[in-house]
Amino acid sequence: KILEHEGFYIPTFPYPTHAQEYATLPTWKARDDDLLVCAYPKSGTHWLWEVVSMLKQQKAERIDAIKEWNMLEGMEQANFDSLPSPRILNTHIYFRHLPKDFKNRKCKILYMLRNPKDVAVSFYNHHSKVLEYEYSGSWEHYFTRYLKGDVDYGSWFEYTLDWERVMEDNPEYPIHTLHYESMKQNSLNEIKRIAKFLEIEVTDDLVREIDDLCSFEKMKKEKNKHEDVNEWKDKEPGMYRKGQVGDWKNWFTVAQDDLFDKFYKEKMSKSKVKIHSS
Ligand code: A3P
Repeated sequence: KILEHEGFYIPTFPYPTHAQEYATLPTWKARDDDLLVCAYPKSGTHWLWEVVSMLKQQKAERIDAIKEWNMLEGMEQANFDSLPSPRILNTHIYFRHLPKDFKNRKCKILYMLRNPKDVAVSFYNHHSKVLEYEYSGSWEHYFTRYLKGDVDYGSWFEYTLDWERVMEDNPEYPIHTLHYESMKQNSLNEIKRIAKFLEIEVTDDLVREIDDLCSFEKMKKEKNKHEDVNEWKDKEPGMYRKGQVGDWKNWFTVAQDDLFDKFYKEKMSKSKVKIHSS
């Protein structure tokens, strides 16, 4: 169920040539106006993708597509080549595994970060509810796996450190960093900042309308229509679960919290990454 490629693990997607296609990904051709939404899983990729897709068309209107159809590691090259411009792609893979041509053309990247404790809870629910994973472990069991990075896409810590390195090593590369928590706290401001980065003119009304259409409740209602209930435990799509900051407090024991903080300090000791908790 998991594809290993050069020591990196990604979920398998439902087409037969996935492994061969994935190996060719670095050779895929980019376009100058391609945009990339990059995030560790469960950091708010769907949300950001939806906001960007509306901003790009300068209309508060849901586009007739979903994030999954634009996910780099989840598509075949022919499909990638035939997507209409501007392509708003998304991925959870590392910068070094992206098509090389993105780097040549300096296609803009929006990079989303979320508090890793909330990511852990969200990812646990994801792994437990998506039937394809066949995962029925306890939260306690999952907690250890997550810390070790024994999950698809690997360790949150390694992923986050890698993006930090990429930004340090390529200061001229256009990467806009966002925090899930800031989007929750001040979405209007964050949407304006995204628009500025993308050099898109917006009015306050447009920003407000986009924000409204991309609210958790509205996305849950609309986007769940695209989910195949047979892929979910109890036939209940769980991609839009709670959409809150700090749900980890309902899951972590005091001991787990201490262990996590200790582990975080060790792993991120040299990092300047700031995690937002509200
Ligand atoms: P929870 O499981 O904590 O609810 P991704 O899109 O990267 O898979 O991330 C999924 C997480 O983002 C889930 O978190 C989901 O509920 C949350 N999410 C999705 N759409 C959202 C929105 N419009 N506003 C806030 N959170 C959202």
